[in-house]
Amino acid sequence: MTRISVTPLQSSLGAEVSGIDLRQPVDDEVLAALREAWARHLVLRFRGQALSDPELLAFSRLFGELDPPGPNPYGKPFLSEFPEINVISNVKVDGVPIGNLGDGEAVWHCDMTYVERPPRAALLHALEIPPGGGDTFWSDMYLAYETLPDHTKALISGRRAIHDATYNSAGMMRKGMKEVTDPREAPGAHHPLVIAHPDTRRPALFLGRRRNSYVLGMDLAESNALLDTLWEHATRPEFTFRQEWQLHDLILWDNRCTLHRRDAFDPNASRIMHRTQIKGPAIEAFDPASAGMALES
Ligand code: SIN
Repeated sequence: MTRISVTPLQSSLGAEVSGIDLRQPVDDEVLAALREAWARHLVLRFRGQALSDPELLAFSRLFGELDPPGPNPYGKPFLSEFPEINVISNVKVDGVPIGNLGDGEAVWHCDMTYVERPPRAALLHALEIPPGGGDTFWSDMYLAYETLPDHTKALISGRRAIHDATYNSAGMMRKGMKEVTDPREAPGAHHPLVIAHPDTRRPALFLGRRRNSYVLGMDLAESNALLDTLWEHATRPEFTFRQEWQLHDLILWDNRCTLHRRDAFDPNASRIMHRTQIKGPAIEAFDPASAGMALES
């Protein structure tokens, strides 16, 4: 019988799961334990999982229906045999990129929040890693919300922001998009700044990505000042978990209550990650009144 153990990696988020071989079937009891650990720690790491693509897909499906990747800059899936898998890589074959995001920094973001129903989760599997650099960081958006001053909570309560669809986290324009000169006109979903997490109902700050974001109903300068304050707060080092990759690490994270980003790495080194994501429900605003929380204005 499989006995998993879950070891927290950071005080707020991130835990390592050991005692499991993800190539083998996962029984209901273990799946329930994984779901509980995931809800508690937001980011789960499984080391030493040499999964084939079908095994990655099978494990991912335990957490829900797969959500195909959003449009990449090249306009077609990277793996024609497995279009649900996104490839994150700087490798080029005959001058053609085999994956997305290159070798530069990927800035803080949540995945695909420019759609009405962003993915609930993503899984990232390390198939080739550089000798240094390329670390990935996650930040805890429950904690970011909880630790905001009351006057900021009051200011953002009931507010929505635009989640721009134009650029990916490496700053590359997605196929079919055009440059945005005024964030108020950016294409993309309008989501509450504070959401009720669909599973836990806990409030979480929901920022998406900074570029071309705009808080609806504010003038642009006021919106930019508020967003700068929120982003600075949300990415404070004490809210974050740093992943230094080992070959065949698999990371599963919750995309509604975390942000993530990646460090740059040596362009002469190769990094190949295969990634899946899970469909999520519509985003709902957090209502402090119904949760019995008083906010000062
Ligand atoms: C991503 O943003 O999904 C990629 C993270 C990474 O390359 O580590």
